[in-house]
Amino acid sequence: MTNLTEPYIDALLGQMTLNEKIGQLNQYNGSDRLDTDLIRQGKAGSLLNADGPLTGQGQSDSGSAEQRNYYQRIALESRLKIPLIFGRDVIHGYRTVFPIPLGQAAAFNPGLTEQAAAVAAKEASADGFKWAFSPMIDIARDPRWGRVAEGSGEDPYLASILAASAVRGMQGDDMAQPDRIVACAKHFVGYGAAEGGRDYEGGEISEPTLRDIYLPPYESAVKAGVGTIMSAFIDLNGTPVTAERRLLTGVLRGEWGFEGFVVSDWASVAELVQHGVAEDRARAAALALHAGVDMDMVSKAYLETLAASVRTGSVPVEEIDEAVRRILRIKQRAGLFDRPFTDPTRYTTEVLTPESRQIARQFARESMVLLKNRNDILPLHGFRRIMVTGNYVHARGEMFGTWSPDGRAENVTPLDQALKEAAPKDTELWFVPETDAAMKAAQRVDAVVIVLGEHPSRSGENANVSSLLLPPGQAELVDAMVNTGKPVVLVVFAGRPLAIMHQVSQVDAVLYAWHPGIEGGPALGDILFGAYSPSGRLPITFPRATGQVPIYYNHKNPGRPINSEQGFHSRYIDLQSSPLFPFGFGLGYTTFRYANLTLSSQALRGKVEVCAEVTNTGGRAGKELVQLYVRDLVGSLTRPVRELKGFQQVEIQPGETRRVSFIINEEMLAFTRGDGTKGIEPGCFHVWIAPDSSSGLRGEFEI
Ligand code: BGC
Repeated sequence: MTNLTEPYIDALLGQMTLNEKIGQLNQYNGSDRLDTDLIRQGKAGSLLNADGPLTGQGQSDSGSAEQRNYYQRIALESRLKIPLIFGRDVIHGYRTVFPIPLGQAAAFNPGLTEQAAAVAAKEASADGFKWAFSPMIDIARDPRWGRVAEGSGEDPYLASILAASAVRGMQGDDMAQPDRIVACAKHFVGYGAAEGGRDYEGGEISEPTLRDIYLPPYESAVKAGVGTIMSAFIDLNGTPVTAERRLLTGVLRGEWGFEGFVVSDWASVAELVQHGVAEDRARAAALALHAGVDMDMVSKAYLETLAASVRTGSVPVEEIDEAVRRILRIKQRAGLFDRPFTDPTRYTTEVLTPESRQIARQFARESMVLLKNRNDILPLHGFRRIMVTGNYVHARGEMFGTWSPDGRAENVTPLDQALKEAAPKDTELWFVPETDAAMKAAQRVDAVVIVLGEHPSRSGENANVSSLLLPPGQAELVDAMVNTGKPVVLVVFAGRPLAIMHQVSQVDAVLYAWHPGIEGGPALGDILFGAYSPSGRLPITFPRATGQVPIYYNHKNPGRPINSEQGFHSRYIDLQSSPLFPFGFGLGYTTFRYANLTLSSQALRGKVEVCAEVTNTGGRAGKELVQLYVRDLVGSLTRPVRELKGFQQVEIQPGETRRVSFIINEEMLAFTRGDGTKGIEPGCFHVWIAPDSSSGLRGEFEI
């Protein structure tokens, strides 16, 4: 924080009445047919969405900057002329829709995550938004939970790196620049632990697991300078996080030094009443403010109760001052006092540019994960006639996935058209979405590509499923196509890992496309016809069946581990214990051999270097994601069987060998112990350089 801002903020705070202060803490839903006098009276610090009568009427053809400028003009008519900050869910792109965050994570490419976030910031800011409610950085171990689509999967190391990249991409070095926006890391914290995968349910997380699995992405976002944090809906260990001072103030501010502001999730301040920790809205507001929630998203509990609570002495005015100070600080850092309005002409030149679309195409290609490729059926070649069937044949907006309110289907090349453009001239493509017709047509083609999966509304907020099987009717389509005896390639579009064990055993190839965004069709064409060799890797474990969840690679060893000699051990009697595909797994169009693992020393003193040779043993160039895992064999608490500690993507030519090396230092091996302290414990460690979390070359070192 520069010292220049603090005196300015103090001076402003000194002029504010209690009601004006409380107004800053209030965020209205701007789509609510908002009475603009409330803004003029200083009762709004922020508007969310902020649509209105001018939307789509101005120079910008979208949402639009003119509408936001109109509200801002009214805010500047208020007594103290404090600008509003406009917020929006810009989750995986704005008009240029990138793959869903879970798909982005599969690319394991922090640079691309940063570039995509920068595009999203540029486009959203051109439309008058200065604040995005993203990145969503919740660890998820249960794919029934619909919001698994919005995060980076199950691993804290990967999620932490991508959290920092997304924050940097949005905010840049200076969030006051017109094309940058304030990021909001959400939903702090533990939201992914909702019981049964049911959104909004409570969850229990032990302190070491909270510290070592769920909190690290947030600490990483704070270190990257994130301006704001959103508190989670979840009741965590008996306290809804919106009322949890130990986390929102103790950890965030006390331990990590976070200087931005915290916004509640939608109405979650007032919902403290339903949780049963507050008897009424006034108490709910007092609890949330005291916990460290600075801005109340849409519940109006702050607006309607805090003044009276200050008068009766149940809320100290100092708490209100502190919250206002944090909000003004971010508004100041975001340059809103100097530049409150958006230049609407930016929209015409800065949105949906060819460069942005190119990034989206590259991201979509890198996000797709090849899970099976029997007899190298992919890339498709030598088939004269190929039929494409399934519910995604004509897909456009369906490829966006959840949370893409600003994407437009008409900007998407339909999947069938994109595949036609990508296919070699002498390949005939037939598009037959409907099952009966496809069964007949299959007799006259040489291969079948099935493109199917979840509709976007089947994942995301409040879109949980009790079964991870393919949506109704889709397994039957796969059966029917396999029964034709033709080679079958299955492409799955989904917002979560689906339990496709049966289909994987049936078909020749499986490509997991997630929801790939605006360039999904061309990217799929690139992969199916061989212009791009798949390089995506799973950022989350794929279960064989729904009943296996939660299942994640960094679990602990029980006394009777999976596959142990012991007759009674961890298992299901009706299903193999291993996952269908492990975390980190993915194939390409070439193969790699790992050899010669070496360590610079058998003892870690400060650090140790681990190396291995990776050879491209196949016939074409390819990218390999070389992964580093460790295991702490004995600890004062049980330790995960593996933990990802590094990864490198290396491009290797056929026949070429690359030496890949990683440094392990002490800090990377520290963990939270039963007494709450964090540190390393001497002893023996295993280390792997590996193509995924279940294989690889193993070495050992000691501390
Ligand atoms: C979601 C948040 C979102 C907010 C504003 C809530 O329901 O949980 O992720 O940012 O709405 O739209």
